[in-house]
Amino acid sequence: ARAHLTIDPAFTIGPVRRRLFGGFVEHLGRHIYDGIHEPGHPSAGPDGFRRDVIELVKELGVSTVRYPGGNFVSGYNWEDGVGPVAERPRRLDLAWHSTETNQVGLHEFQRWLDLVGSELMLAVNLGTRGPKEAVELLEYANVPAGTARAAQRAADGREAPFGVAMWCLGNEMDAPWQLGHRDAEDYGKLAAMTAKAMRQVDRDLELVACGSSGRGMPTFGEWERVVLTHAYDDVDYISCHAYYQEHDGDLASFLASGVDMDAYIESVIATADHVRAVKRSPKRIDISFDEWNVWYLTRWQEQARHFTIDEWPVAPRLLEDRYNVADAVVLGGLLISLLNHADRVTSANLAQLVNVIAPIMTEPGGPAWRQTTFFPFSVTSHAARGDALRVAVDADATDTATHGSVPVVAAAATSEGSSLSVFLQNRHLTEATTVTIDLSAFQPTGAVSARGIWDTDVRAANDLRDTQRVGLRTNDTARLSDGLLTVELPPVSWTALTIA
Ligand code: AHR
Repeated sequence: ARAHLTIDPAFTIGPVRRRLFGGFVEHLGRHIYDGIHEPGHPSAGPDGFRRDVIELVKELGVSTVRYPGGNFVSGYNWEDGVGPVAERPRRLDLAWHSTETNQVGLHEFQRWLDLVGSELMLAVNLGTRGPKEAVELLEYANVPAGTARAAQRAADGREAPFGVAMWCLGNEMDAPWQLGHRDAEDYGKLAAMTAKAMRQVDRDLELVACGSSGRGMPTFGEWERVVLTHAYDDVDYISCHAYYQEHDGDLASFLASGVDMDAYIESVIATADHVRAVKRSPKRIDISFDEWNVWYLTRWQEQARHFTIDEWPVAPRLLEDRYNVADAVVLGGLLISLLNHADRVTSANLAQLVNVIAPIMTEPGGPAWRQTTFFPFSVTSHAARGDALRVAVDADATDTATHGSVPVVAAAATSEGSSLSVFLQNRHLTEATTVTIDLSAFQPTGAVSARGIWDTDVRAANDLRDTQRVGLRTNDTARLSDGLLTVELPPVSWTALTIA
């Protein structure tokens, strides 16, 4: 197969914001307990956090981290997670039918983020709670001094405010599985009311209203319209959530999941801009794509047990998907989609980070390792710099059952000064694709490097038995001559080219 691309530094989409490479940590399964926090592990510090995991999270390159949920937050009392650890209550976590021990809460998590070097993004509970508790948490977290809650924060060990800038107004409130789920009218009013109250504390907050929990939800589109009709003036972002998986061995459609993500983003932008037109508002609402990943959701749904009232495990093994090479190629394609919408998707969070549908896995008392999906995320997070550029793609087509005929290659590019990065996904199942890239508008002189992920066995994965079966590979076919770059992409592959 073949593809010809043209990239010109004059055609920018928008700046690549660091927040596009956010992560998500939920109190769920072994994410926190026996994941990032394992006091008995040889690499744990006195705070109980595993240093080997911290090193991997840094290498992954995550910016903002959304916390503490997810479905979990819709039943969470933030007060349970502050104050002396020994006195914290054990609570039912209804979302995941587990016991929450509250050994990690706001202070401990902020401490972990300080070690990782990432920014906190907090979600408030609008499931079983409301504006009152959201404002109380905001006061506790961000008011510098002089009130009972600010004093309580200082007594709990943190004099300086947390200074949390970005807040999610609940989680997936459109979803029937969500505690406190409501319809768009009710949620739109609640989001507007909560946002107004929070802005009375701090008008500079960045607030995210819940969009749909997926493009396939029956209320998708109408939900966004109604919620924004109520909350447009009060919020800054509408959220998107999307998880992809291979259905019935249809790898061709799965590889083209980015096409679905493109359509999802463009529909939400159209809806937000429609509300803007009706309101004659000068303000623009952006997208916080605050949950996205590959997730074998149907596998989980089949496995989900009906727990009995005496079964509330602490940190059970939940959602521990093992990702293969094809999954990583899809994830690289989803990053390409996000970069190509960098003007309107200004914040995004890979869901999740450790053990739970995660790029990083751990074994209690044992190693921590990178899943296949770690590689496209970490390379893109480090290489995507400056401005996202529009890439003109003229490529052979490949047929898919779900998305119709799609270009065999998906591409995104970023540039900063004289450096250029190009991200490429070859969706062909069996053929290599020869890609030529016209860079004459750049006059590039630097050295070209090409790294990526592919394998003769697209089902190959890393696990406890072999933590390094799959890694980044170097593609040594890239050649640059007279402003024309040529590279051969293996079938089912993701590649990052950089010219520095
Ligand atoms: O990321 C796992 C779950 O997926 C989250 O808790 C929820 O928000 C979504 O449905």
